[in-house]
Amino acid sequence: MKRLISLYYFTLLVLFGCSGSQQNPPGFEENSPDHGLEIVEGVHMETGLADDPDLPLIITNCTACHSAILITQNRASREGWKEMIDWMQETQNLWDLGENEEIILGYLEKNYSPDKRQTRRRNLEHIEWYNLD
Ligand code: HEC
Repeated sequence: MKRLISLYYFTLLVLFGCSGSQQNPPGFEENSPDHGLEIVEGVHMETGLADDPDLPLIITNCTACHSAILITQNRASREGWKEMIDWMQETQNLWDLGENEEIILGYLEKNYSPDKRQTRRRNLEHIEWYNLD
């Protein structure tokens, strides 16, 4: 009887233990609709860039040489961003962005113009205030 029980547990182990160990690593989602771009509260986790339909284009063209922090910590008007791109093209070998330039400028203007404060932390919620009187 004891042997039967251990055989039973062994079978269970084989059936569930092994299939369990073949699970994908955490965070990996096959056929995920966002193609592996992990977005939390509107921010792409890996780069810190604001989520947007054009995000893949930005990642491809704007994070190849340097960290996206240069972008996320900057604020500029569309013209200001255009100047930075021109400067990188003239002095830092940034390639011709072709028709993508308009799309990239649109993204930068929308998410990183001077009035955008996306680096500010979120409001605190559920705070227990000390009563000071
Ligand atoms: C070919 C390489 C390359 C690519 C691609 C590139 N950059 Fe840069 N960028 C640089 C270099 C080099 C610097 C200077 C870095 C430094 O000062 O450490 C820089 C600096 C910057 C800065 C800081 C400018 C400043 O005045 O402080 C910003 C913002 C920036 N890049 C945005 C972008 C954006 C947006 C894109 C996508 C259109 C992009 N970069 C693509 C090379 C590149």
